Amino acid sequence: MKTNFLGLPLKSPVIVAAGPWSRDGESIRRSLAAGVGAVITETIVSEPIIDVKPRIAFDGLGAQNIRLFSDVQIEGWEREMEIAKSNGGIVIANVSAHTPSELAYLAVKMEKYGADGIELGLSTPMGVDLEVVASDPEEVYEMTRYVVENVKIPVMVKLSQNVTNLSRVAKEVQRAGGAAVSAINAIRCVLGVDIDNMKPLLPTYGGYSGKPIKPLGLASVASIAQTVDIPICGIGGIDSYENALEYIMLGASAVQVGTALMLKGRDYVRGIVEELDRWGQENRIDDVKEICGKALEKLKSFEEIKIEPLISHADNSIACSADCNMCINACMYGSLSRTKDGGIKTNSQCCTGCGLCTFVCEANKMRLDWL
Ligand SMILES: Cc1cc2nc3c(=O)[nH]c(=O)nc-3n(C[C@H](O)[C@H](O)[C@H](O)COP(=O)(O)O)c2cc1C
Repeated sequence: MKTNFLGLPLKSPVIVAAGPWSRDGESIRRSLAAGVGAVITETIVSEPIIDVKPRIAFDGLGAQNIRLFSDVQIEGWEREMEIAKSNGGIVIANVSAHTPSELAYLAVKMEKYGADGIELGLSTPMGVDLEVVASDPEEVYEMTRYVVENVKIPVMVKLSQNVTNLSRVAKEVQRAGGAAVSAINAIRCVLGVDIDNMKPLLPTYGGYSGKPIKPLGLASVASIAQTVDIPICGIGGIDSYENALEYIMLGASAVQVGTALMLKGRDYVRGIVEELDRWGQENRIDDVKEICGKALEKLKSFEEIKIEPLISHADNSIACSADCNMCINACMYGSLSRTKDGGIKTNSQCCTGCGLCTFVCEANKMRLDWL
């Protein structure tokens, strides 16, 4: 399934996100060979710093990382870009700096080395002062404008969920001439505490990523799509072609995959690309624009929602385990109980149609019906 993103014709909307899996030319070249639409470099800064060890933790659901930036000097990227693009493919350079001029300097260099686009990293969830630049709309405007004025290639700005004014920040990107926004970066976290040794799993705040952040990414993309007209690249917890479609249907023109690649490898990402293509063929969709934002039309404000007279109903032709009382335990209104023959019945006087039982039932036995 193709897309046009940042004015670039991408053969797939699936892009490899910035991270250590894109730390040099060879790793980028290998990701491009997996069939993705583009690859984004790890964040490039003017003064790389030494990595801490360990720097990645995983709890089976999400990951925390405290890896900061690329350890390749900006000049070293000339050679890395040659290697990255040796078999063709689109490479976007992620750059980060504290001042507009430093940021533009890095962007100009990466443009010279062959980058097809720039992603501004203004939203690192960790680091020296824990200050997310992307929380200050005016600073985002200044940074973006300065870079846009200094390069000819398109500039996208990576936004953070660690702010309360995401839509306003996205508006500033648009006003500054940014070609797109990408959202979201990893979210500031402490993954857990080792209670035996009474210390956090990693020694500093880090970025939370992977499956658990998908709902936050989806909400961010939807709210940005409802606010600005520039294209959006959806990021956060994408682990399947269905997840990619969710972002696209909420308004993303392309998506990025990070943690899934880190945990499962490039062949897994190749699978996401191929399954998305297969879905596109089966549904006769060959361009993302045909489905972009289709679910957004149905994401209403609270006031607009019509209150339907719904009640839970158990399909007792579907067997469920007698030991499993998930629906009964989860029902906050005390409306579900077992029948003598082991089925589930609803007390219509108590059921308020909240819908929770339809999600907790593993046998898929519960549904909401009209009263
Ligand atoms: C180990 C690791 C390192 C990362 N490094 C960068 C980075 O250098 N620059 C950046 O903008 N984002 C970085 N990220 C954030 C990812 O690009 C992405 O925004 C985030 O992980 C959410 O997507 P995901 O859930 O698919 O991983 C990193 C994420 C991880 C897990």
